Amino acid sequence: MLKELQLSLLVILLLSCGFLYQLTLKSSCLFSCLPPHKSQQGPEALLGKGRSIVFLETSERTEPSPLVSCAVESAAKVYPEQPVVFFMKGLNSSMQLPPNSTYPAFSLLSAIDNVFLIPLDMKSLFEDTPLSSWYTQINASAERNWLHVSSDASRLAIIWKYGGVYMDTDVISIRPIPEETFWPAQASRYSNGVFGFPPPATPFLWQCMENFVEHYNSYIWGNQGPDLMTRMLRVWCKLEDFQELSDLRCLNVSFLHPQRFYPISYPEWRRYYEVWSPEPSFNDSYALHLWNYMNQEGKGVVRGSNTLVENLYRKHCPRTYRDLIRGPEGLVAGESGTGNK
Ligand SMILES: *[C@@H]1O[C@H](CO)[C@@H](O)[C@H](O)[C@H]1NC(C)=O
Ligand SMILES: *[C@@H]1O[C@H](CO)[C@@H](O)[C@H](O)[C@H]1NC(C)=O
Ligand SMILES: *[C@@H]1O[C@H](CO)[C@@H](O)[C@H](O)[C@H]1NC(C)=O
Ligand SMILES: *[C@@H]1O[C@H](CO)[C@@H](O)[C@H](O)[C@H]1NC(C)=O
Ligand SMILES: *[C@@H]1O[C@H](CO)[C@@H](O)[C@H](O)[C@H]1NC(C)=O
Repeated sequence: MLKELQLSLLVILLLSCGFLYQLTLKSSCLFSCLPPHKSQQGPEALLGKGRSIVFLETSERTEPSPLVSCAVESAAKVYPEQPVVFFMKGLNSSMQLPPNSTYPAFSLLSAIDNVFLIPLDMKSLFEDTPLSSWYTQINASAERNWLHVSSDASRLAIIWKYGGVYMDTDVISIRPIPEETFWPAQASRYSNGVFGFPPPATPFLWQCMENFVEHYNSYIWGNQGPDLMTRMLRVWCKLEDFQELSDLRCLNVSFLHPQRFYPISYPEWRRYYEVWSPEPSFNDSYALHLWNYMNQEGKGVVRGSNTLVENLYRKHCPRTYRDLIRGPEGLVAGESGTGNK
């Protein structure tokens, strides 16, 4: 009788050990700190650790263009242990995900372990920031450049709230950015196409949002974007000119040399769609900004063309290349999108 009791106690003990083990496996980050369940992640859970890579789509579009898909996939590849969060205005929480047969890029990105496609709800995003009063007073459908202006605002608010790295959807990541707090230079100005700040909320970004509202003018192109950054950084830091290829530093922020993200400058953007011999190594760059805004003529990537951009896709976003890039007959539709300049 006593033996039987001991035996059943042992069995119970073993069972509960197994159960506890399962539980710890599920809840701790034994192998990776990525959130275990992809589906019901709110922004807080995903972005809370401040290590996310953030992309934005401020139009209603839910099927990303090949370039957007490449940007997101390449970031997921370069930062496999970090969540890559793609905020889309066209998604909302009650909506079912689009079926994957008709949305190949959407399903390609959803299938990547560390990519999360979540709704962009500007009203709640801007709450508790200087942008809130501006946003509630504005009539979005009457604003000039609204897709870009709302993207400029959203990126400031997201990185202020959660920390992390913001990237435009026409930036192809090629190697990790070794800095946590950085701002890139583009010629003599500062761009807002890529930037990173760790949490907690930095006063610099708060002041950027205040300045955004104070000087808001959607008729001036870039006034809320690169111009805002250049205005603000001049107030905070006396920066000298870059010497050769080295970066600058001021107040714990690294100001990255134009080579890091803009090795091909915007007047030269067509070079990405040309055949090079030999190809540039981009050894001094972390990511490449493809200047999609300049691409009004809708140049795309053609399989077998051996252009620089085709080879970049093949190497840095192989799934996008495999699934979305056609040969010369089936030209991919014009690569447009927003959140990228
Ligand atoms: C979510 O999307 C559906 C379908 O597009 C729409 O009917 C609904 O009003 C949206 N809900 C919100 C809260 O935006
Ligand atoms: C499409 O969806 C099905 C079922 O939802 C899934 O098994 C399949 O892997 C998906 N395909 C792609 C390319 O994501
Ligand atoms: C917003 O702007 C649009 C386009 O100019 C106009 O039709 C609409 O009436 C405006 N809405 C409000 C609430 O003012
Ligand atoms: C710079 O960073 C260090 C260490 O993270 C911190 O102690 C210091 O306060 C920071 N300085 C400024 C001006 O933010
Ligand atoms: C770029 O880096 C690779 C690997 O570090 C090296 O093999 C190559 O020679 C470098 N190219 C140039 C042009 O510096």
